[in-house]
Amino acid sequence: PGMNACIRSICLTAQSLDIEVVGYKAGYIGLLKQDYIALTSNEVYNLLQRGGTVLHSARCEKFKQDEHVKIAAQHLTENEIDGLIVIGGDGTFRGARKLQEFWDKPIIGCPGTIDNDIAGTDYTIGYQTAIQTAVESIDKVRDTAESFERIFLVDVMGREAGFIALNSAISSGADHVILPETFTSAAEELVNILNKLAKRRAYCANSSHIIVVTENLWPGGLNILQDSLHSETGIDVRILTLGHVQRGGSPVWQDRLLATKLGNYALQAMLRGEKGVMAGVKAALPVSVAFEAIDKQEKKLNPYSMEMLDTITLRG
Ligand code: F6P
Repeated sequence: PGMNACIRSICLTAQSLDIEVVGYKAGYIGLLKQDYIALTSNEVYNLLQRGGTVLHSARCEKFKQDEHVKIAAQHLTENEIDGLIVIGGDGTFRGARKLQEFWDKPIIGCPGTIDNDIAGTDYTIGYQTAIQTAVESIDKVRDTAESFERIFLVDVMGREAGFIALNSAISSGADHVILPETFTSAAEELVNILNKLAKRRAYCANSSHIIVVTENLWPGGLNILQDSLHSETGIDVRILTLGHVQRGGSPVWQDRLLATKLGNYALQAMLRGEKGVMAGVKAALPVSVAFEAIDKQEKKLNPYSMEMLDTITLRG
């Protein structure tokens, strides 16, 4: 969510400066196939609030090989492109960095992933919408959890990062959150959960429990945790996998604003002659971060949120 808002911002900014814009369909795949469209104000009309991307998106396996990246560089030259702006996550940035080695005109990256796992920027485009979607879903599932006095395991996306899990758990008042950044072992985590459940049940026997878990984290899958919790407590346990709905929908205002700022800034950075940089955001202001610097930094979960976690769960 917010990719369209970013495309729109790039186009409108370019238009105000009399710069022509084309959009490659499905990212690097379009670049390899020479599949592109002109982007004028017609194409971006009414686009700000729409989820998804009008240019489509894809995971491009070929772009992992230098020979294909070189072909993409040739295509950019043949098409007389003066600068390239890419919007995406980890894979997009790896591709952009490689492409910059074979093409000497500016490449600027806008961080677009719900995972928020790109260092050098406080937020990535789409992340805040994904949290909103997760929070709304957890609010709804809580009604069933509470009425049936069940435990719900809510599986949220994030790849290998706990940003969505942590912030959706806090914002929905979940009872427990399982994060890749702090996960040690299934055995230890199970003890933590059972302790929390016992305390809570002592205080209110008929309560529900919401546990938010980062995707792909629990060894063997969430069914294993479901079975363990059921056999230890006798309580009904259900799994809710939020999956790709988190990557859809109309962007929240924070993502619209961020995407608009970063799209605008990316074009300005290009005109200043910057290349091989990401347009990121720090304390609400856009900043340029060299591609190489991104990999060297570690992006940590907010320490204050982590510290307060234990103090904000309901207990006996
Ligand atoms: O990186 C974004 C992301 O949505 C992750 O949160 C998730 O693990 C992955 O992509 C899903 O990828 P796909 O759409 O290819 O299944």
